[in-house]
Amino acid sequence: MTTRATIRGWGKCVPPVKLTNAHLEVLVDTSSEWIIERTGIEERGISHVETTDLAEVASHRALAAAGLEPTDIDMLIVATVTPEITCPSNACFLQERLGMVNAAAFDLNAACSGWVYGSATASSMIQAGVAEKVLLVGAEKLHWVMDYWDRNTCILFGDGAGAVVFEASDAGDGVLSTDLGADGRAGKTMVFPTLGTRGELTNQRDPAINRLHFEGQNVFKIAVKGMEASVRRALERADIAPDEVALVVPHQANERIIDAATRRLGIERERVMVNIATHGNSAAASIPMALNDAVEMGRISPGDLVVQTAFGGGVTWGSTVMRWGDRVTPLGHSDIELPPTDKTVFELLSGNREFFAPIH
Ligand code: UT7
Repeated sequence: MTTRATIRGWGKCVPPVKLTNAHLEVLVDTSSEWIIERTGIEERGISHVETTDLAEVASHRALAAAGLEPTDIDMLIVATVTPEITCPSNACFLQERLGMVNAAAFDLNAACSGWVYGSATASSMIQAGVAEKVLLVGAEKLHWVMDYWDRNTCILFGDGAGAVVFEASDAGDGVLSTDLGADGRAGKTMVFPTLGTRGELTNQRDPAINRLHFEGQNVFKIAVKGMEASVRRALERADIAPDEVALVVPHQANERIIDAATRRLGIERERVMVNIATHGNSAAASIPMALNDAVEMGRISPGDLVVQTAFGGGVTWGSTVMRWGDRVTPLGHSDIELPPTDKTVFELLSGNREFFAPIH
């Protein structure tokens, strides 16, 4: 009998204020047609609250779906590249917020691959008997590091959070295999040096440095090849062929990257979950939000083979293959909501525009 980690609850939190392509046409020299054609994105959430607030809402929803109380969880992992501060971790902030007093708590940074690294970690902790019930959260407030004068980067990213509850199962469901990898030599293709000790103690935040930078086309190529190869390795380890997969839930970076990677795998569009049009790229939060939508849309059935795959800064990549359990409807619902805001998206981005203006 093999014990595996299976998903029993899911939830997401999307900020109510949207940055549409029409808004971006006002901010930078771009067009909605260009953005949709090159990325598939129509709008993204811009958060009026902190990363922990987004994480808290997604967590309550996932716990309710699993029919669990916060005190039932013995490990809390937050995958994020936009923690509020370095220490305490976002996971500890969230643990306090949720009253999750029986849980170990830590953050995990593998950029956009953070969710898959987190899934592999949760699965391993459960298989090793270190934990029985793990809450994994992906949460990002990416707009904070984005330069909204730079059309090359600012059109892609959105804020949000997603969460799942992993529980031990002996019923044959759960994470069957994982593949994780990294190549630090290609790290300079995606960089945002926002939090860290590099440099002089007295350095001010410099807008020329503290912004996301990436080499779009290089990242594109690394992503397509990296995700394809990673999925193949994970499938091989589980002795599963691509045509047995019911649904691929990829990191939502760019619709063209998703199409190219899954086409190479011979997995047609009907078996791929894509929600980038309304969420943008939300790094470690993108897969759990897409997974949440897939379950709610009825795209996952009991016993289905579901693949998660991602690539991201580092560079990093990873995939998991899992057999879904018997539950595809939530046991309960949480009525928690984010606090309302009357701010417009331009008001939410005004500080950012002011900070980066001098370098444009
Ligand atoms: O965590 C980081 C994750 N990073 C990513 O996921 C990025 C992966 N890369 C991509 O998604 C794509 O490379 C982009 C969407 C960023 C760019 O698409 P592309 O098809 O690779 O465009 P390109 O970089 O080849 O640029 C083509 C043209 C350029 O103009 P010139 O040099 O041909 O005159 C760009 O300046 O499009 C221009 N361009 C834009 N035009 C209108 C770049 N951004 C925009 C824009 N609106 N927003």
